[in-house]
Amino acid sequence: MENIRLNIEKTLDFISKEKLASYEPKVKACMETLEKGTGLGNDFLGWLHLPSSITKEHLNDLKATAQTLRENCDVVIVAGIGGSYLGARAVIEAMSNSFAWLQEKKAGQPTIIFAGHNISEDYLFELTEFLKDKKFGVINISKSGTTTETALAFRLLKKQCEDQRGKEMARKVIVAVTDAKKGAARTTADKEGYKSFIIPDNVGGRFSVLTPVGLLPIAVAGIDIDQLVAGACEMEKVCANENMYENPAALYAATRNELYQSGKKIEILVNFQPKLHYFMEWWKQLYGESEGKDLKGIYPSSVDFSTDLHSMGQWIQQGERSIFETVVSVETPSHELHFPSDEENLDGLNFLAGKRIDEVNKMAELGTQLAHVDGGVPNLRVSVPSLNEYYLGQLIYFFEKACGISGYLLEVNPFNQPGVEAYKKNMFALLNKPGYEKESEAIQARLKK
Ligand code: PA5
Repeated sequence: MENIRLNIEKTLDFISKEKLASYEPKVKACMETLEKGTGLGNDFLGWLHLPSSITKEHLNDLKATAQTLRENCDVVIVAGIGGSYLGARAVIEAMSNSFAWLQEKKAGQPTIIFAGHNISEDYLFELTEFLKDKKFGVINISKSGTTTETALAFRLLKKQCEDQRGKEMARKVIVAVTDAKKGAARTTADKEGYKSFIIPDNVGGRFSVLTPVGLLPIAVAGIDIDQLVAGACEMEKVCANENMYENPAALYAATRNELYQSGKKIEILVNFQPKLHYFMEWWKQLYGESEGKDLKGIYPSSVDFSTDLHSMGQWIQQGERSIFETVVSVETPSHELHFPSDEENLDGLNFLAGKRIDEVNKMAELGTQLAHVDGGVPNLRVSVPSLNEYYLGQLIYFFEKACGISGYLLEVNPFNQPGVEAYKKNMFALLNKPGYEKESEAIQARLKK
């Protein structure tokens, strides 16, 4: 079977082949550091050989729990934020029919809704209203077990589930994915007797999609987690290659770092397939939290083309030349639709008659690449043979491995996120959370100034 492929040819007008080649020994050293676990953040390397260490028994346990939720729920709420929801959402949206939520419900195929990733009263009100007559279940996902957004949503949902479905059924349709021992989510799960899955200590949130954090919701959505893991396993092998030019993760890491050193401070991840919107959101967190520290880091952004060519296209074509693009290109769509001929040809589009819609999309993609390269935007391309579980698994591992290498090339700790705490500390102080008295006093004095 084919694999995903990286093409960096359209960056070589902007960076020299020689400069890129000088990354070879550095990339090799970074890969060794990852393998040996001798670098920064080495207690969070559980993702590195995660795909090949997932057992059949573990997958079966996940699938059995998913089946219980599928049999007993019309709606399943996945409560989580950041790394505790983006991976699941990325895969579920990529693999779902774009209009699934408008289609007639099939028994055993619950609608998946995400919550616990904001603190919007309107969102939560509307969600709890929607759930009023629904047979719903909840997957509560939090590694720390104490994240405010998720805990707040979970308290509301737990109560509503118990009130509507009774304590016994609630116990059956609420599942926890959390730390083995610590945190409120663990305490609640143990006390209430919920089925629970453990997030390994050595896997950080944004690298956790192939743990139960991602795999359970993905399985509940009816998506093939065996294939997802198989794809990731294949990439684990491919991305172990010591030859930078034969290892897409190494080559991507080297190319984007050289582009960064040459002044390209912003990377735009591009899709021409709207189902990949949340994949881009997952990627933004992965790279943003991993690299944006110590006053360094490429700013990760994303666009959905051709939609955003009509909003961001002008900036990308002619704005400040501090950007480069990485296009995730799906080679073959899952469906076939031909453009019809029209006798009157009032819209003048008969030149497209008989063509597949994807042919037009591909020409939009090529035309955009040519225009952007002409406009001074280096272009990388990740080709994905088709949008399925296997290739999504490959994409996930490819980007994770590249992120680890890239962070080490940048000389940051790619596995921590100390900056995320700053807003939390202020929010807790402002809300008078016990234990934050000193911060509260300081912040009140600052606001009075
Ligand atoms: O990548 C990370 O570590 C974060 O984005 C976390 O996943 C996010 O903050 C949620 O944390 P938790 O799973 O502890 O609720």
